[in-house]
Amino acid sequence: MARALKLAEVERIPILGTESIVCGFHLVDYIWTDIFSSLPAASTYVLITDTNLAKLYLSQYQESFQVAWAHHNQASAAPRLLTHVLPPGELSKSRATKSAIEDWMFSEKCTRDTMVLALGGGVIGDLVGYVAATFMRGVGFIQIPTSLLAMVDSSIGGKTAVDTPAGKNLVGAFWQPKRIYMDMAVLSTLPPREFSNGMAEVIKTAAIWDSAEFDVLESSSVEIRRAVLGGTQDGDSGLTLATRSAEQTLLQRVIAASARVKAYVVTHDERESGMRGLLNFGHTIGHAIEAILSPQVLHGECVAVGCVLEAEVARRMGHLSEVGVARLVRCLRAYGLPTTMDDPLIRGLASSEQLAEVRPQRLMDVMGVDKKTVGTQKRLVVLKQLGATLELKPTNVSDALILEVISAGVLVKPVGDGAVAETVVVPPGSKSISNRALQLAALGKGVCRLRNLLHSDDTQVMMAALQAMGGCEFAWEDGGDTLVVTGGGGALHTPATELYLGNAGTAARFLTTTVNLIDSGGESTVLTGNARMKLRPCAPLVDALRANGCTIDYCEKQGSLPLRVSHSGGRGFPGGRIQLAASVSSQYVSSILLCAPYAQAPVRLELVGGKVISQPYIDMTLAMMAQFGCHVQRISETEYLVPLGAYENPAEYAVESDASSATYPLAFAAITGRQCTVPNIGSASLQGDARFAVDVLRPMGCTVEQTATSTTVRGPPRGQLQALGDIDMEPMTDAFLTASVLAAVAPGNGGVTRIRGIANQHVKECDRIQAMCTELARFGVTAVNHADGIDVHARSIDELTRATPSVHCYDDHRVAMSFSVLACVAPGGAELRERRCVGKTWPQWWDVLARDLVSSPSVVVVGMRGAGKSTLSKAAASALGLTFVDMDEYLEQQVGQTIPEIIASEGGWPAFRAHESRLLAQALTKDFATGAIIACGGGVVEAPDNRTLLQRHMSSNGAVICLTPNMDQVAEFLSRDKTRPAYAAGDARDVYERRKPLYRDASNYEMLVDARLPGAWPKIEQEFVRLVSFASGRDCNRVDLAHSSYFVSLTAKDVGEYLENGRLAAVTAGAHAVELRADLLAAIDEEDVLAKVQWQFAMLRHATSLPVVFTVRTVAQGGAFRGSDAQRLSILHAAIRWGAEYVDVEVDTHAAALYAARRNSLIIASHHDPTGQQLRWSQCEFTTEILYRARACGDIVKLISFANQWSDNMDCLEFTRRHHSQETPLIALNMGYEGQMSRVLCPVLTPVTHPLLAAKAAPGQISVQQINVARATAGLLPARKMALCGTPIQHSPSPAMHNAAFSALGLPHVYGLFETAEASELADLFAAPEFGGASVTIPLKQSVIPLLDQLTPAARRIGAVNTVIPAGGKLLGDNTDYLGIVGCLRRSQVTAFPKATALVVGAGGTSRAALYALYTLGIGSVMVYNRTAQRANELVAEFSELFTSLVAVSDLAALESPDYVVGTIPASDLVYPDSLFAKVGVALDMAYKPRWTPLLESANRHGWSVVPGVDVLIEQGIHQLEKWTHLTAPTKIMADAVYTKYNADN
Ligand SMILES: NC(=O)c1ccc[n+]([C@@H]2O[C@H](COP(=O)([O-])OP(=O)(O)OC[C@H]3O[C@@H](n4cnc5c(N)ncnc54)[C@H](O)[C@@H]3O)[C@@H](O)[C@H]2O)c1
Repeated sequence: MARALKLAEVERIPILGTESIVCGFHLVDYIWTDIFSSLPAASTYVLITDTNLAKLYLSQYQESFQVAWAHHNQASAAPRLLTHVLPPGELSKSRATKSAIEDWMFSEKCTRDTMVLALGGGVIGDLVGYVAATFMRGVGFIQIPTSLLAMVDSSIGGKTAVDTPAGKNLVGAFWQPKRIYMDMAVLSTLPPREFSNGMAEVIKTAAIWDSAEFDVLESSSVEIRRAVLGGTQDGDSGLTLATRSAEQTLLQRVIAASARVKAYVVTHDERESGMRGLLNFGHTIGHAIEAILSPQVLHGECVAVGCVLEAEVARRMGHLSEVGVARLVRCLRAYGLPTTMDDPLIRGLASSEQLAEVRPQRLMDVMGVDKKTVGTQKRLVVLKQLGATLELKPTNVSDALILEVISAGVLVKPVGDGAVAETVVVPPGSKSISNRALQLAALGKGVCRLRNLLHSDDTQVMMAALQAMGGCEFAWEDGGDTLVVTGGGGALHTPATELYLGNAGTAARFLTTTVNLIDSGGESTVLTGNARMKLRPCAPLVDALRANGCTIDYCEKQGSLPLRVSHSGGRGFPGGRIQLAASVSSQYVSSILLCAPYAQAPVRLELVGGKVISQPYIDMTLAMMAQFGCHVQRISETEYLVPLGAYENPAEYAVESDASSATYPLAFAAITGRQCTVPNIGSASLQGDARFAVDVLRPMGCTVEQTATSTTVRGPPRGQLQALGDIDMEPMTDAFLTASVLAAVAPGNGGVTRIRGIANQHVKECDRIQAMCTELARFGVTAVNHADGIDVHARSIDELTRATPSVHCYDDHRVAMSFSVLACVAPGGAELRERRCVGKTWPQWWDVLARDLVSSPSVVVVGMRGAGKSTLSKAAASALGLTFVDMDEYLEQQVGQTIPEIIASEGGWPAFRAHESRLLAQALTKDFATGAIIACGGGVVEAPDNRTLLQRHMSSNGAVICLTPNMDQVAEFLSRDKTRPAYAAGDARDVYERRKPLYRDASNYEMLVDARLPGAWPKIEQEFVRLVSFASGRDCNRVDLAHSSYFVSLTAKDVGEYLENGRLAAVTAGAHAVELRADLLAAIDEEDVLAKVQWQFAMLRHATSLPVVFTVRTVAQGGAFRGSDAQRLSILHAAIRWGAEYVDVEVDTHAAALYAARRNSLIIASHHDPTGQQLRWSQCEFTTEILYRARACGDIVKLISFANQWSDNMDCLEFTRRHHSQETPLIALNMGYEGQMSRVLCPVLTPVTHPLLAAKAAPGQISVQQINVARATAGLLPARKMALCGTPIQHSPSPAMHNAAFSALGLPHVYGLFETAEASELADLFAAPEFGGASVTIPLKQSVIPLLDQLTPAARRIGAVNTVIPAGGKLLGDNTDYLGIVGCLRRSQVTAFPKATALVVGAGGTSRAALYALYTLGIGSVMVYNRTAQRANELVAEFSELFTSLVAVSDLAALESPDYVVGTIPASDLVYPDSLFAKVGVALDMAYKPRWTPLLESANRHGWSVVPGVDVLIEQGIHQLEKWTHLTAPTKIMADAVYTKYNADN
């Protein structure tokens, strides 16, 4: 009797309707039994395999065949089992082998009832399957995959093929196997590289399909590897469930899950018409690489690189997050797979000829002939997250994007002037802090949530290594934003393979000590890295550890990696007294310190061998060890005592942004003359490089504002950086590269910068000092290499080479990022040859540079159809120089169908939404990522994917503005709009109600669009332009705090009260901002508070352009709000959404959240003490504590107490002086009558009242006028003399106008006349100490220029000055004539300016200001008429560059009627033909005597709006006054004064 059968317990997986995939361990008996009992009988079984497998398994199969048959059917003889063994490898997969097999089968007389079995990897499976498919037109076929790749991929799906010289798999057939038997026990004999090869497919499948599965793969690499490569072959373990180990169960789960996905996809799309294409993720690019590198590099290895590149494409398209890409990379690496072409595995396997062939264009060409390419359109599987794809099929991707991703280099172009002036950039987490935090948390006890961890090559290798030593568990939360580390308390074991650390210095140094802590597992551990790493020194650390008793050997070059650390001696890390040379790298010191608590004896670390390098990094290590519960004692300058014990993991640890990375955006601001804020690094940072702004940029001429936690830098005008002379950069060595590129274009202060104290930079990722010298030379800049530094000899920007230098980055992120900053101003930009090296610390750098620094992210507009999205967006686009994008039009044009066509087509609405999502991502991240305003379709927020896209846009500094409509007006509008399908009656309202929360979710700004608001549509348009400027950071409308400033507190219950007769303008005279106290509004206690407050806010917006200070104060805070805290907070948050420039919040538990959410609004953190008992100014701990708490959650601090005696004001003043801070300005004052003096003395943003206000907002509040009178009396506001200069001026209304303003504002100044025709006579006037400013008129507007120090750009372009402003001892020439014209025309606008045409009459001095005004308004098409054509022509030649069309005309009668006419000649007998006024327009005449000039009379006769010259005079005077006094002008008082004088004279 035959032996008993060993029938395995199996799991079956369905495919194409039958459960024909069988998984288990030790399946041989099961296989034959199953074949005999459940498949049609065959006369001959042909088993084909390769020699590798034949050796291992063939006899088993032969023996089992007989045994199983005997059990199956004792009556008849067994059928034939023929076996055929081929050489292993891809070469066997040929037509020749196929024919040979067929001929052999014929010779063996195989007939149609033959069953063919393929026992082997994918090669055997594909080849034998194809034989079966065609032999006698097809015979039965069984797959017994033995490689991991064959199990999860090639055996499933019925694709069979052979290779031809023209390419792989080009000839073949679809032929489904009857059964697929996966015997996981055979994996134990699989070579390790083949295991990794298969894992590429497993990871790929999880990445496209199943996020939970991906998590398992990510966190269980050690166990899975062990299950495959160790131990399953012993006996029958795993045959039954009872004998299956945990690791075997895990392995089966992972393989079955992957096979199940493939089976599912094949079942739903057998012939690859759609979904099956998903399995090609990573394969489009992967195959192109494979075509060049095969057979040296395996399929899975090429696919791994392909997956990373295709994931990067998805990220660029805006779908996959950065974290997603980083996790994919880490996971692939954990299974020994390469992730870039630079991987040592690939470099080691492929020949140099092959590697040279892997050029981007060659890869593109290969992809072009890929079977998956349709026509010329490339299609890639686009991930939207790990575990899900954008579409259920591959997506069209542009060649340009693919090329960009696979290219090694990047071209950085010089930056123009048009971009945003202010940006906020949050650099990724600090590498040093991230690596330390990882090491500490991994060694610590308990769970620690790490936030803002750097995702980079460096931290990835660190994590992979820690995981390989089993020291801890990692899991991701919040979609990858948080890493949850479960520490192992210091118990480590020997990793399965050597630890490959790439070029990650920190990881290499830290782990050199860590590895010695291993106390279980194998004999030794090898630490190795890439070629560059193998040159970097580690001898001092190894020497110290050896001397301490650790056994460490160099495997190659002495003094560098690779190292072998042996664990056999069992001595681990002895500890005790250790001497270490710390003059080369502080990482050695940190390495020992971090592990010291786990040594066998307390470590006493003594630093020897000269000056200790980079002490700040050592301090950082000590501070962080303390945060994890280990307090190191510093016994002397160079000696540390570390107690024993395990780290206690804090529940949460937020990693500070990297200060070295922050130097690049700050340097960008410095070099381009813009402003950049890094909001989470300040003077309190542990990082040495945090001093870069103060110690390097400030001396170079930048304005630097640094708080404890933030840094803002504004560069000097381009080209005006100062050289540093001698500077020691030892405390921030990594920042020397950034300093060097700035020094290269810092010709001021002698032009030479000598940086010292950076000797260690010779041995970083490359010899950085030499690298800087070599690469700066490419720009034409000379730099000299020194042993401990570099000298840089600056050139002016204009002298840099005009060509585009090609910069070698030495695989060094800092070299690449530094030169990208220089490229932004170099005349030809620069090509940086290795784009990817920034992955080390800032993988998104190129995106940040392109979208946040060079220009700002586009603004997106959402809202209901009919709310005005397109109209307003177009207006904002033309006003701000943005590109306008209508998403609907863009979609139609990209898809090639109209929207109704798409919706009417088979796919219907889902098809439309799919296009919308795809193209929204494409628009936001590629086509219109920056510099555009994108108006979306009304329903864009319906799809969750779109909301995610918009949220991602917001989280990377983008603005999404939601227009909140008046639904009555929308319904009315839609009923008139016949171009689009109508909503059924009432529907639009329902749709809106449903979408409201979706709109809110997917936007960060909101604006009310309601024609009932004052000023109606033109005002709405202006308001929108302002909101776009604010939200995009172009103009945040902030008060200039360099001068005394005031905000007027409105106290009415309804803003509507201020709207009549210019009351608001009167009330705000002198003030710089207006406060809206929401708690005082009538609506505040009713239902629907938010909507009501929003309405009031919008009315205020429409009535004034001053910044708004928004607040809600409770009764306890001296206000009137009685609602809940949650309500108050929601109103304050809403104010940020509405774009309030300032939001005032009481310092309490909620203030920090508001501060964190403030975007471009500034937070005034206040504390009010209405009693004056608690908030005392002198020697009061409570007050200082409040001050510091307020500084932590405010941009401005406001402390308000109550004066119980007059001297409290002096204490308050003293307190303000003592705590003055430029970074966080302080408003401090006392309420109450006795506190009035503190209001007089308060330097910034003093709250004021106005006589016209019915009530005061606080007791003791006084007006700007009162304050100024008091200041003048107290000797704090010296009287100035202003004058009108020119001739004739005796009848000018200017003195009346300005003097009325001075007295209304309480200013002691006097405006007089200085009549002269000679500019030289003005010199004494201008030089007088009491000179406060001058108006300049004919004939001095040009001749005055030589007396001035500087001109504004407007005055320079116009070529004339009408205003002189003394500022900081210098005289500035400005021109407000054009501002007068701009203001008047804006108010009487009839036709949108970009569409309008204008005529300027005259070609003298005033016409120049008129042309500049028209240009400022955005009018593109202008004509000039002058009696003498010659002068008109000259003017046209000089100004034509400002306009699309500027022409001189000679015959007014021949003109088509323009929209605007501006007269600039004295009233004369010129006759204006009727035809000029044929359409409705506006005429403005600069001449104001007589009031009715011929131009205005003719225009008026034809029903035109007219602007008399006297109005322009008033308007320009208002601007003058504001420029001299820095106060908001009392416009009505000025106008009244002019008209009184003017009417009296005329
Ligand atoms: N048909 C499809 O859908 C499909 C999908 C993917 C890949 N493929 C094809 O699969 C082939 C690659 O398959 P592969 O990676 O399995 O290569 P392979 O068949 O060459 O096997 C790899 C190596 O491992 C050996 N081996 C396999 N199982 C073993 C075991 N259990 N113990 C010891 N050694 C073992 C083999 O002898 C061979 O040397 C390629 O030709 C590829 O085109 C086909």
